Amino acid sequence: MPTKIEKDATTGTETTGHEWDGIKELNTPLPKWWLYTFYACIVWGVIYTIVFPSWPTLSSHFGGTSGWTRRGEVAEALAAQKEGQAEIREKIVAMDIDSIRKDPALMGYVQAAGRVAFADNCAGCHGAGGAGAVGFPTLADDDWIWGGKPDQILATITYGIRNTNENSRVSDMPRFGADGLLTKEQIGDVADYVLSLSGTQGNAAAVERGATVFAENCAACHGEKGEGIQDMGAPRLSDGIWLYGGDRKTVVETITYARRGNMPAWIERLDPATVKVLATYVHALGGGQ
Ligand code: HEC
Ligand code: HEC
Repeated sequence: MPTKIEKDATTGTETTGHEWDGIKELNTPLPKWWLYTFYACIVWGVIYTIVFPSWPTLSSHFGGTSGWTRRGEVAEALAAQKEGQAEIREKIVAMDIDSIRKDPALMGYVQAAGRVAFADNCAGCHGAGGAGAVGFPTLADDDWIWGGKPDQILATITYGIRNTNENSRVSDMPRFGADGLLTKEQIGDVADYVLSLSGTQGNAAAVERGATVFAENCAACHGEKGEGIQDMGAPRLSDGIWLYGGDRKTVVETITYARRGNMPAWIERLDPATVKVLATYVHALGGGQ
């Protein structure tokens, strides 16, 4: 039962007027600074929900008077990043790869952007870091089928290999067995000869017969000593590095059916700056000439 409000003798604080069995309740209100901060937070909260996207509505949500969205912020950041890169990418398109390589700032960009573009577009066939796989040449060594000079690499990547682009690199090894150009025995002999080029000892008589078959049928593309001819896209056969495999069975299969691997013309899929970045990146992977 409320009684009268009085001052407590011990603490000097007013009582609330409540009393139970002689025990009186002191009135200790919230500190003023706390209370006003609390009110300020409420006001700030209300303003916030008006300015920024906040309350759900039946079909969507109240967007706020400022029109701000997180999505918009990301789009702006992306646009700004693109604009920041536009200058450097224009430079890369305009410059030749040798000059790009001498510019540390551009090379820094090439390394970063090239790694990403390579992982996105090339690693599926050529392996992580250009390590290569059966049928897909290693790009990190200095053994080049179509040439390892900057312009050769750029041309290979730009127009691709054995595709429908009019500038595509094309060179089709004949299907010597499947099309009946050589007999089984001749193919066996020439396979022995090819293997002997990289040091595998075969039957000496077979190797000798194979050498004649090679000179007549293969040297025009692969070179007299199997050293390879880049203009023909014909790999070197004397270095022990194999695109399709260097055991006798695989070599016989290659000669019988040919392989004719394809690569897309990347200029049809990527912008010129990215293609140039990739050519510079691949050239720098370790084996560029
Ligand atoms: C669909 C599979 C595939 C993809 C994806 C691919 N390549 Fe290739 N690439 C090949 C094949 C197959 C060859 C070899 C063709 C041949 O000459 O027999 C090749 C050859 C090359 C060569 C020539 C190598 C040499 O020794 O001369 C370069 C350079 C190259 N690719 C770069 C790239 C780059 C850069 C990308 C990514 C933009 C890429 N490739 C994506 C299949 C692919
Ligand atoms: C018209 C040119 C041409 C002629 C002629 C030719 N080749 Fe090839 N050869 C190529 C090309 C291009 C490749 C690359 C593989 C492909 O087709 O994808 C190749 C690949 C090979 C390979 C696979 C190499 C590897 O690294 O796995 C072998 C082995 C080979 N040739 C042997 C021969 C032999 C033996 C003959 C003669 C009987 C011959 N070639 C004639 C163009 C030719």
